[in-house]
Amino acid sequence: MQKRLIRKLDLEMLLSRIEPHPSPRPSLEQYTIPADVAATMLYIVAYTYNDVIDKTVLDLGCGTGRLALGAAFLGAKQAIGVDVDKTAVKTAFKNAEKTGLKDKVQWIIADIDAIQGKVDVVLQNPPFGVQKRKADRKFLEKALEAGNRIYSLHKSSRRDKAFIKKLRTSGTRIVPVSPSPFIRGFIQRCNGRIRAVYAMVMTVPHMFSFHTKRRHEFLVDLYVIERK
Ligand SMILES: C[S@@+](CC[C@H](N)C(=O)[O-])C[C@H]1O[C@@H](n2cnc3c(N)ncnc32)[C@H](O)[C@@H]1O
Repeated sequence: MQKRLIRKLDLEMLLSRIEPHPSPRPSLEQYTIPADVAATMLYIVAYTYNDVIDKTVLDLGCGTGRLALGAAFLGAKQAIGVDVDKTAVKTAFKNAEKTGLKDKVQWIIADIDAIQGKVDVVLQNPPFGVQKRKADRKFLEKALEAGNRIYSLHKSSRRDKAFIKKLRTSGTRIVPVSPSPFIRGFIQRCNGRIRAVYAMVMTVPHMFSFHTKRRHEFLVDLYVIERK
């Protein structure tokens, strides 16, 4: 089990070797979390909140496995990745072999609705609900049912270009912000409490025919949540 502090650069290098989905579907919002965002998120979870080492970690909507594999690399006791898409999970399995983490992560092909049981920590980069409205809400509900601590990414409604530029060039690439009133209310109704929210810049390449730019840059908020 890995217990020493891992350099963020080493984590980002590992995550960048994890292949994205070979044929992503817009209806499932199958874009892969960029390695830099995944590394920043996992680093905060592991070393600010002490929520990876020796913990059971569930990655809901794991795609090709960046968050689950990153957690395993940082020393999770057990990591589990769940995704409804067979190709995504097959790719995650190959990624686990390629990175030498095969024995540390279990993969499940299933809708998150089918998941039962409890874990210490849920990590998730769910569909933002851009294609299918409210898609992220079912992920929050399931995360609060399954985990004691939840780290969940959500698309921000902020569009401030100066803020994005400042954040992109800042050393930490992350800044505390206020929660969206809607998401806060929803989390409270699901018996959760927000401990913090951090804004990050996410840049995804052109993937779907309706993307008009070569790269799309936007703000995401990382919600740090605990069950009441
Ligand atoms: C935005 S992608 C994120 C993938 C991966 N977690 C990452 O960050 O690279 C959302 C993922 O959720 C999966 N997904 C969408 N709806 C799902 C559901 N109801 N049950 C399980 N997985 C689902 C999609 O197949 C997709 O892989």
